[in-house]
Parts: sequence; C-alpha cells; structure tokens
Amino acid sequence: MKAISLFSGAGGMDLGFRNAGFDIIAAFDNHAATVDTYNKNLGGASILDLSCCNFAKISESLGTQKYSPDIIIGGPPCQGFTSAGTRFWDDPRNKLISNYVDALKQFSPRWFVMENVEGILTTAEGEYLYETVKRMIELGYSIYIRKIYMQEYSIPQRRKRVIIIGNREGKAYKFPEPTTPASGQIYRRASVTLRNAIFDLQDVTDESIDQVPSEETGIKLERIVKLKQGQSMKDLPPELQHASFKRRSHRRVIDGIPSEKRGGAPSGLKRLVYDEPCLTITSASPCEFVHPEKNRMLTIRECARVQTFPDSFVFTGKRNERILQIGNAVPPVFAELIANSILHADESPSHTVQASLVEYVLTKAEARSPALVRTEKKLETLLTNSQQTLF
Ligand SMILES: C[S@@+](CC[C@H](N)C(=O)[O-])C[C@H]1O[C@@H](n2cnc3c(N)ncnc32)[C@H](O)[C@@H]1O
Repeated sequence: MKAISLFSGAGGMDLGFRNAGFDIIAAFDNHAATVDTYNKNLGGASILDLSCCNFAKISESLGTQKYSPDIIIGGPPCQGFTSAGTRFWDDPRNKLISNYVDALKQFSPRWFVMENVEGILTTAEGEYLYETVKRMIELGYSIYIRKIYMQEYSIPQRRKRVIIIGNREGKAYKFPEPTTPASGQIYRRASVTLRNAIFDLQDVTDESIDQVPSEETGIKLERIVKLKQGQSMKDLPPELQHASFKRRSHRRVIDGIPSEKRGGAPSGLKRLVYDEPCLTITSASPCEFVHPEKNRMLTIRECARVQTFPDSFVFTGKRNERILQIGNAVPPVFAELIANSILHADESPSHTVQASLVEYVLTKAEARSPALVRTEKKLETLLTNSQQTLF
C-alpha cells in the first residue's frame, strides 16, 4: 500500500508501517531537525507547514493522480479551540485539524490512521473529536476509535494514546488484540518490562549520541541515592526536595487546586521500577527518570529503546530536539501492529459497514469523568442506528 505521512515527526509510526511493507511516498513535518532525523533513517520527508499549505498543489507535485495514496498516516497535534459563538470550523485556530480533513478530501485515501494524545477525547468539551469525526463521515469514512494502553501490546511502557482509523470502502476493521490484556492491575502488567528493554545498556552512560555524565553529582546525587524503585521527589526528606517542587506541592495543599489544573503533578525525579513497564516517555524523561539500579538518569538511547526504536535509528539535532522527537513518537512496534491490522482488514469485503462511527472505546476505566461522558454522548449521535455504543 502507498502511504502519505503527515506530521511525520522522527518517523516512529512510519518505521512501523514500512516494516509491515507499506511504501511511504511522501512525509511532511515543519520541524527541520525532525525532518533531518526522518531522512537519515527513512528518507523522503520534506519540511512543510501543514497549517497553511495547499494540498491540491502538493498532490500535483507528487503526481498523486497517478499514484494516489491508499492511506494517510499521522494526525495533527491536538489544539482544538472551543469556538464560542462561531462554528468550530470557522475558527482559524482550528486550522491544523481542518487542513487535515482537507488532506483527506484532496487525496481521498482508502484508509487513514490518526494518532493522538488522550486529551483529544475531551478537548473543547468533546467538540473537537465530534466535529472531526462528523466531517470524516461526511467524506464517506467508517470510523473506529480506541484509547490504547501501549503496555497491553508488548510495549515496555505505560503510554495511553488515541487511535482513529477510517476506511472509505465500507470494510470492517478490527483493532489488534492485546498481547497482555489489562484488567485489575492494569498499569503494572506487561509482557515486556523496562528491564527487558534496557538491561543490556546498564553501563552505557556516554554513548555517541548522548553525552550524559556517568555519575550525577552534588545534591542531585544525594537525592537519587535515596530514591528506591517506584519512589519520587515526594518521598525524599524535605531538605532534599527541590525548592520548586516544595513550592508547587505546598501551593497545591493550601489552595486545593488539583494538580491537573496546574498542568500536571509536580515534576521531579522518579526512580523507575525495573520489572514493570516504564512510565510514559516524554521530552522530560531524561531529566526526570532515574535508572532503576544505577545512580544516573535514563539516557536518550534508553528512552528510544522504551519507545521500541531499533539501536540503528539515529536522532539528529540538539539534545532537547532529539528527546522531543523520541517522546513524540508512536512506538514503531505498535505502529507495525496497526499497519498489519489494516492489511488484514483490507482483504475483507467492501461495503459491509456504513459511513458512520462504527466503534469507539474511550476508556477501560470503570469510572469516567463528566468531560468524557459529555464526549461519549456527542459521539453516540454519529453511530449508525443499528449500532450499540461499545465501552
Ligand atoms: C506527535 S509528533 C508526530 C510523531 C510521529 N507520528 C512519530 O511517530 O514519530 C507531531 C509532529 O507534528 C509536527 N508539527 C506540528 N505542527 C506542525 C505544522 N504546522 N506543520 C507540520 N508539522 C507540524 C511536529 O514537528 C511533530 O513532529
């Protein structure tokens, strides 16, 4: 299958699709160092701002009339603004997503795969997801949405992401079955643990791509030494807690504002647990995650391993740019599973499902926030009449 990749990043998703046999005919991202990384490993990416481009022109230059893509992979970073008084699509701040839908219209791929953070489920009071899916259905797609818990799929990491799959030919699609289905101790079960992923990198502290000091020093070392596996800054004696951490957690206590409203829990050091999946790799990981057994932080290469990049994959740019590329990526091993599930579904007969929302599973948790319930109610109206809500 021929694929066009939008917001391609370092190419985590694309590597998985390529490994499954897809031919990526073009890839676009607006960040130079990221495109450089992509091209060193996969080739064929161009720098392009997808918020203000003309897909008709791009299509012309790619000759996609001749080689129309079977699939578009990649999704826009979720911004999504509630448009008080105006329609969602009239708000210029929603340009990234409206352009994405334009790309679907222009290239008319038979399939698309859009990956996003779980925030997409509740952004703009559910309006973002609802309006997007509605447009996709209007373009003739049957839609499948699932919140994925990566540790269920042999990925050594607790990472939640939303995957939206669309098909324009009415083919039935099934998400890949988890290899380690989660129930009960959902976060801690994994067929692949952090140890499995990085044990052989124990003594690598100064690898070619990653100048991390072999030993931390000073108060940072004092903190690290005191942390046992699974412990974080809050478990340290107050004299060792970072001043900003103390300020933030104290403020939280006195005014009672939940930490999510402040942009997340107070950051700080965390010593990872070796025999569990790693915590989510983000651009902050090499500053926050302490190796389970060594008195040092995770290296960039260890983060890349947890994201299932092969060691042959090189990341270019400044240190913070490389970390960002890794934290942003879809784990290639997971992407390959999705790619294979699409190849499988592509063999099934056409016109068996309507252009509608066919399936959505927005959480595995029993309790759901009022925000998620709002989104579910909106999405429900996009199901085909005969369909039951699946959750
Ligand atoms: C979540 S990352 C994609 C990761 C990628 N799917 C992977 O697996 O490696 C989102 C990407 O969107 C790119 N991006 C953000 N705004 C953009 C824009 N206006 N035009 C093009 N690319 C953009 C960022 O540079 C970033 O690489």
